[in-house]
Amino acid sequence: MAPDATLADRLVADQFGVDGADLLIGGIPARALAERFGTPLFAYDAGLIRRSYRALAAALAGFATIHYSIKANPNPAVVRVLHAEGAGIEIASLGEFHAAMEAGVDPAQILFAGPGKRRSELAAVISAGIGEIHLESHEEMVHVAAIGASLGRRVCVAIRVNPIAEAQGGAMRMGGKAAPFGFDEEDLDAVVDAVAAHPHLDLTGIHLFAGTQILDAAVLIGQWRHGLAVAGRAAARLGRPLRTIDLGGGLGIPYFAGDGTLDLAAVRAGLPELIALRDADPLIRDAHVLVEPGRYLVGACGVYLSAVLAAKVSRGQRFLVVDGGMHHHLAASGNLGQVIKRDYPVAAASRMGEPVVGPASVVGPLCTPLDTLARKVEMPAMAEGDLVAVLQSGAYGPTASPVGFLSHPAPAEVLVDAGAAQLISRVQ
Ligand SMILES: Cc1ncc(COP(=O)(O)O)c(C=O)c1O
Repeated sequence: MAPDATLADRLVADQFGVDGADLLIGGIPARALAERFGTPLFAYDAGLIRRSYRALAAALAGFATIHYSIKANPNPAVVRVLHAEGAGIEIASLGEFHAAMEAGVDPAQILFAGPGKRRSELAAVISAGIGEIHLESHEEMVHVAAIGASLGRRVCVAIRVNPIAEAQGGAMRMGGKAAPFGFDEEDLDAVVDAVAAHPHLDLTGIHLFAGTQILDAAVLIGQWRHGLAVAGRAAARLGRPLRTIDLGGGLGIPYFAGDGTLDLAAVRAGLPELIALRDADPLIRDAHVLVEPGRYLVGACGVYLSAVLAAKVSRGQRFLVVDGGMHHHLAASGNLGQVIKRDYPVAAASRMGEPVVGPASVVGPLCTPLDTLARKVEMPAMAEGDLVAVLQSGAYGPTASPVGFLSHPAPAEVLVDAGAAQLISRVQ
């Protein structure tokens, strides 16, 4: 691959492949998927999910295990792939609990985090035997204790901590600011005391989540180092060992020109120091350390395929109007929290290898200029019926998008595994 290859070229070469003019997804031509399932569609390659999971699990071996944060892609068929690999599950709602159940996950392998859990959700998951509830407010503490009392048992809980700014490991990220997520680290002692005082709460762990889309191994290691220190302090206050330490998700993948790839070898090289820190503290030495990534495990597996409805020129600028858009893939349109709108990697999935003829903007069918999937990307000649692929689309896709906006049909979702494709649509 030439050093000046675009991110899309690199991803196509590394993750997908090409046959003639067709982009391949899990070995199947994009055009064949489009013909069989219709467009727009999300195709997820199960092989790539396994590849990401196995690479991360190998890098973390001896230090931490993986819970999949299913908000990234709660489709039960996707969850099933990761569950079969050995991942536990992190959920943020009763709906996600049901998705995990549908995928065959044992409730004991599930933990529930999120700043606003309803009492009915808590009651349902606790009755079903969920592994751990991550407390984020005093109200939750009271409700979980009351549910435990009504069931006549102690509920395993962790305290979610909103870390201080220095915990960012050099990155300016989510933690350290005023935030509704978890309890401020400054209040940790008081919160530990309050939880420990409830006879129906069993304080098993500590949870920190400092930010998302982290591509720098040193930043991650710095955050995890801080997480271990916080866990040690909580255990000391509690006066007994902790059983779980959840160091959060946030492992990034490249989306934009210039983005690097998270260096797992560098992550692994940073672990002996963390293992030594953990082992030096008898109150956290035997704790089960876990991480809970979402995007890292499923982002790369997904391709959003849409078909060109019109190829037009306005005042000298080329537009490809496609049948998919921000209503299915808000993140790719740059409207899911991005400060600067940059393009996800895109490919001309039915005209691979053809010479580019100049820049084109790929826009969706919604009546708003926000509905833009790519801005002035170099593209070959494209006509009605040609396919555009947005890569890195396996995480925060349809369930993170305003699917009802403008009342277009929901996208098909397809899982490709071992050369076979299966419709797994769930979002209506
Ligand atoms: C508590 C928690 N865990 C895990 C994640 C997953 O983040 P990512 O997909 O960046 O790994 C999130 C994302 O918002 C989160 O809030």
